[in-house]
Amino acid sequence: VTDIADKIKSYCSAVNSRLPELMDKMCGPGILKDSMNYSLNAGGKRMRPILCLMSAEMFGDEKEALDFACAIEMIHTYSLIHDDLPAMDNDYLRRGKPTNHVVFGEAYAILAGDGLLNCAFEVMLKCAIKSAKSINYISAMDIVAGAAGVKGMIAGQAGDIQFEGSQQGIEVLEYIHERKTAAMITASLTSGAALKGASQGEINALNNYGRCVGLVFQIIDDILDETGETDKLGKTPGKDKNDEKQTFARLYGIEKSRAIAEQKTKEAVDALEIFGEKADGLRKMAAYLFRRKY
Ligand code: IPE
Ligand code: IPE
Ligand code: MG
Ligand code: MG
Ligand code: MG
Repeated sequence: VTDIADKIKSYCSAVNSRLPELMDKMCGPGILKDSMNYSLNAGGKRMRPILCLMSAEMFGDEKEALDFACAIEMIHTYSLIHDDLPAMDNDYLRRGKPTNHVVFGEAYAILAGDGLLNCAFEVMLKCAIKSAKSINYISAMDIVAGAAGVKGMIAGQAGDIQFEGSQQGIEVLEYIHERKTAAMITASLTSGAALKGASQGEINALNNYGRCVGLVFQIIDDILDETGETDKLGKTPGKDKNDEKQTFARLYGIEKSRAIAEQKTKEAVDALEIFGEKADGLRKMAAYLFRRKY
């Protein structure tokens, strides 16, 4: 395996150059398109599409997964635009830029989110129609629809809002984090495998890996909200404490939260055993996501 940072860079630039092409094909000109592209092209680590491509790569050529991976980034970006709305987290900085609703107004921010979600399903359907293995893409779409939906990310976001301003225990905290963050991270991996025709056993293993790295991802996000700097994060830290969000940092403190994340990173790596050295990239990725500083 090449150095993980190089792999991330190369998949990130593949996604960054394909996203605008896909948007151009689907959107007519105007403010709606501008607002969608504003958030989509503002930067972002592209971790979900990168995970999708890394997973697909274990089962052969990952290039045919690129459009599907871009669709996942569209869903993620929509979730960020809506997450930042005044009615949700009320944030004004995202990916180092003023949030969508600050620039385009709330109505367009809502519509840009709706639009990106629809674009994502259009892209995924076109993949399924074009492919000789349509059923694989349909299975992958089923995974993504579930993870993004009302038992997945949307349920997590609802829980995040419901329990704001209260003090809950680990069950509620894990309920929220598994859904708002781990669900889409897991689906990125399992859909990437499904569209390459992976077996149920392989998908189960990636589910276990994804749940762990997904939780780690949100634990580190919670820690960085307390310890990170605006310049690096591209968003305003300190918000979670202010809003009394359910976070690992709040329930356990920074040090113990980091220890939990480290333990879960080990569990993630253990889950990859059945893949042998094919999964070395994902093993390095788990460590990378634990160490991230933004
Ligand atoms: C932020 O996601 C929202 C969380 C689930 C923590 P990212 O940290 O992946 O944000 P971008 O895509 O890099 O901006
Ligand atoms: C957001 O979690 C999760 C989703 C957008 C689904 P946060 O509210 O913690 O994310 P940030 O910190 O604003 O990026
Ligand atoms: Mg939020
Ligand atoms: Mg937020
Ligand atoms: Mg956060």
